[in-house]
Amino acid sequence: MSAPNVVGLASAAYIVAALLFVASLAGLSRHETAKSGNTFGMIGMGLALIATVGLVLRSVDDTGGSTPLAVVLILVPMVAGGAVGVWRALRVEMTGMPQLIAMLHSFVGLAAVLVGYSSWLEPLENGAVHLVEVFLGVFIGAVTLTGSVVAFLKLSARIPSKPLMLPARHLMNLVALIVTVALLVWFVTSDGSAAALLLMTAIALVFGWHLVASIGGGDMPVVVSMLNSYSGWAAAAAGFMLGNDLLIVTGALVGSSGAYLSYIMCQAMNRSFVSVIAGGFGSGAVASSDDTDYGEHRETSAADVADLLREASSVVITPGYGMAVAQAQYPVADLTRRLRERGIDVRFGIHPVAGRLPGHMNVLLAEAKVPYDIVLEMDEVNDDFPATDVVLVIGANDTVNPAAAEDPTSPIAGMPVLQVWNAKDVVVFKRSMAAGYAGVQNPLFFRENSQMLFGDAKERVEDIIKAL
Ligand code: TAP
Repeated sequence: MSAPNVVGLASAAYIVAALLFVASLAGLSRHETAKSGNTFGMIGMGLALIATVGLVLRSVDDTGGSTPLAVVLILVPMVAGGAVGVWRALRVEMTGMPQLIAMLHSFVGLAAVLVGYSSWLEPLENGAVHLVEVFLGVFIGAVTLTGSVVAFLKLSARIPSKPLMLPARHLMNLVALIVTVALLVWFVTSDGSAAALLLMTAIALVFGWHLVASIGGGDMPVVVSMLNSYSGWAAAAAGFMLGNDLLIVTGALVGSSGAYLSYIMCQAMNRSFVSVIAGGFGSGAVASSDDTDYGEHRETSAADVADLLREASSVVITPGYGMAVAQAQYPVADLTRRLRERGIDVRFGIHPVAGRLPGHMNVLLAEAKVPYDIVLEMDEVNDDFPATDVVLVIGANDTVNPAAAEDPTSPIAGMPVLQVWNAKDVVVFKRSMAAGYAGVQNPLFFRENSQMLFGDAKERVEDIIKAL
């Protein structure tokens, strides 16, 4: 193949890939089109990979390097990495997705740091601009790396999800940022001082770790999408360093869509965007509720719940993380179908952060073929609870906690929740009286119109179906 052909073809492939990524994002924004969105993304990434490998081989050829060696050096890590990726993706449970994603973000961060160092070692072509690119790329990459590792550890419950509240933490963050700016000036004016780069990397690693460590359980969803955004910016920075336009475009797409998602989630949870990214700003409220005596809870049985449902004319199901753990979506879909056949109006109320990743519940319900039109957002269903006969809270806890609305000292105060307690009867499916993800007790369980149905959510729903 003649020289201009490879470059020309690769540029064309990059443009097509960039368009496919935009189409992918558009597709992913709606249930009905999410699958095709994924397909566009995969085709785009495949094209991008082929074009990039073509470009690399071409430049090896141009510089008189050994093409077979280059092929081996590219193929071995690609096949090994691809195999690990496929293996993890096949094995991961839906409930393990968030931590897998956090882990993958940390790889993007690590890659940006490595690209930064390798491009710093190379002879500099465009002086100061290149140095700024290297510095920023390594900084964003290092923050993403340790931040994502902490998120991984918290989400997989390897460390407690409680926020780390170091004294003077905001001051420490501010000092770290000021020192980083000073190091940038030193790095550029000294024509790439190794000491400045190394010192900044150390600060950025600690900064990223501290930023996520100081964010509490309830705010983790925002953190995951923010780290997603950071990983995009880290990739874009690597794109600048490598002079790869597609990486810049793709990184910017991931960076900006992640930032926008974080913003939407902050709004949904009534949190200030700045305070969450600044690391636990305003999370000073202390869990006073833990030792509060809420009185006695009432237990019920599957047979009694079946009776309650038979009498009902409107039912709302509010699923949460426990439905994912129990894999109860299939019997829940079955129960829904049976109740609807009896003429009972059944709908779902989905909290924006129910589960452990954005859209978690929607994915599970779609998988179990629950019709989209009965799956409603929190805002669409909240006003309907007073007119609802029975609410089935299936493995949800924080997202239905009245303390968020009523107790200003609660760590989740101000977070909008599904106001299930306004319904006539509430049945809570869970295994024990244990707290939810945010670690706070839920006064809902002790309300007069609430009953607890203990046990694994899947088994209990199946028992109800039998009793019906
Ligand atoms: P949680 O508050 O985590 O409560 C889930 C409940 O499910 C637990 O109380 C647990 O009680 C119960 N459960 C667990 N396994 C079960 C099983 N096999 N059968 C029956 N029940 C089971 O869930 P939520 O209401 O969905 O709230 C989500 C929380 O996660 C929020 O605090 C949110 O901020 C946080 N979070 C969300 C995300 C995203 S993006 N959605 C990401 C990270 C964190 P037992 O142990 O007593 O059974």
